[in-house]
Amino acid sequence: MKVVFVSSEMRPFASTGGLGDVGGALPFALMGQGVDVMRVMPMYRRVLEGNLQCSDTHIRIQVPVGLRTLEAEIWRADEPGPATYFVRKDEFFDRRELYSLPERDYDDNFERFVFFQKAVVGLLDTLHVQADIVHTNDWQTALMPYFLEYGTQGIGREMHERTVFTIHNLAYQGVFPSSVFPYSSLPYSCFSLEELEFYGNINCLKGAIKRCHQVTTVSERYAKEILTPEFGSGLEGVLAESQHKLTGILNGVDYGEWDPRADILIAASYSADNMDGKLTCKRALLEGTKLRLKKGWEKRPVIGMVSRLVDQKGMDLLANTMEAIMQEDIYFVMLGSGLEMYQELCLSWAKKWPERFAVQIGYNNALAHQIEAGSDIFMMPSKFEPCGLNQMYSLRYGTLPIVHATGGLDDTITNLDPSNNTGNGFKFTEYTGAALLSSLREAIARYRDTDIWYPARRRIMAEDFSWDRSAERYIKLYETTLAQS
Ligand code: ADP
Ligand code: GLC
Repeated sequence: MKVVFVSSEMRPFASTGGLGDVGGALPFALMGQGVDVMRVMPMYRRVLEGNLQCSDTHIRIQVPVGLRTLEAEIWRADEPGPATYFVRKDEFFDRRELYSLPERDYDDNFERFVFFQKAVVGLLDTLHVQADIVHTNDWQTALMPYFLEYGTQGIGREMHERTVFTIHNLAYQGVFPSSVFPYSSLPYSCFSLEELEFYGNINCLKGAIKRCHQVTTVSERYAKEILTPEFGSGLEGVLAESQHKLTGILNGVDYGEWDPRADILIAASYSADNMDGKLTCKRALLEGTKLRLKKGWEKRPVIGMVSRLVDQKGMDLLANTMEAIMQEDIYFVMLGSGLEMYQELCLSWAKKWPERFAVQIGYNNALAHQIEAGSDIFMMPSKFEPCGLNQMYSLRYGTLPIVHATGGLDDTITNLDPSNNTGNGFKFTEYTGAALLSSLREAIARYRDTDIWYPARRRIMAEDFSWDRSAERYIKLYETTLAQS
């Protein structure tokens, strides 16, 4: 089976969040199960500046974008694993960020990703790739089924591929004014109520849901939630009509990257059988973030958090609750970037509690690993969470997560129950500060009771959320859709 995986993010090349983790790991897991995988992503400045080896294939694709015809250079990674191609166009992708500056999205995002997707179709045709499945992800690649059907010029193409689309987050739909539609070169019939049109605008996600042979999202619970007005972000009706082809498949963990036994980014390695290294990691984290190591620091729990600083991640809840949270005898270490107002809020907390609260604003993969390893408890109070990866990483690092019962968090975390040695974290159902606080207090109490905490840590470290299981489910889905063709 030949699968082309198209994504705007893939670790380690470029990533802003979980989509990059998925693009970096799922194709390898598919390959491990015998699938012939090829990946394509844009060549951002970050890819060019990274230490990764890639070279020019000298393939050039002519891409019509509105009235212009632009040339895409095709580069290829010289790395083991799935064949990875990059679409290079410096005018569009040689920028500081992937999609936006802190103030606003780039104005030409529609043009940029139309160019990228058409270049991918041009590449498949140039290389005569006989793909069975084209698997695309989120709004940036949501128009692929259209370009596969209509070609780069919008006049038609012999489409032999089946398409699978994964929704990683329904909150980002790729909505653009109708005035930019001509960049797509698609027939105007595609800009209809049945296809891309949504309240007068173009809605890329809607188009993919309508057109793709299969639609998946990243947890079973989220697959149900998005059928409701609360989580559907206006697309619940469109999704309900497509329910027959909608599946939830939980993401996995790349244990090659996230495992304290072999993590080169943390101060000391450790395992369920020998946890000494975890204390070394805790000390290194506190020292590294300049928190005060006062007497008894070992017994004071470290709450860690790594997150985009946006409403989705529960920042509004923390904003209202931090005062009460910090009345507990804890350390809090936070890493994130996002909305200016939340960045400033976090900085103000660090100023207020300089000995116990630390924050680093920015994207820092090494520190993300060090927080997973050095914390005792991981904070993930997301308002909604399609899957969430850090709660699963936390389990492997023996760091018990506190989560809100939503999406993938609800599917992966169960309440700790010492009476029968079950559970792997602390989960609150109502999205309120009081509920969050009560979970936090319970976590702290459990932490203080080492007869409960130590066995719980050992137990959660043995849990297995590897990608193999998810890859198996994707392969089954690919097979089902191929059988339908
Ligand atoms: P989302 O994709 O919604 O941001 P996920 O939990 O699926 O949430 O994935 C987030 C990923 O991004 C994790 O691998 C996490 O460690 C990483 N991450 C998020 N923010 C940062 C940051 N500021 N620095 C480093 N890594 C980060
Ligand atoms: C999105 C979601 C997150 C998910 C990730 C990878 O960014 O917000 O919950 O884990 O995609 O699928």
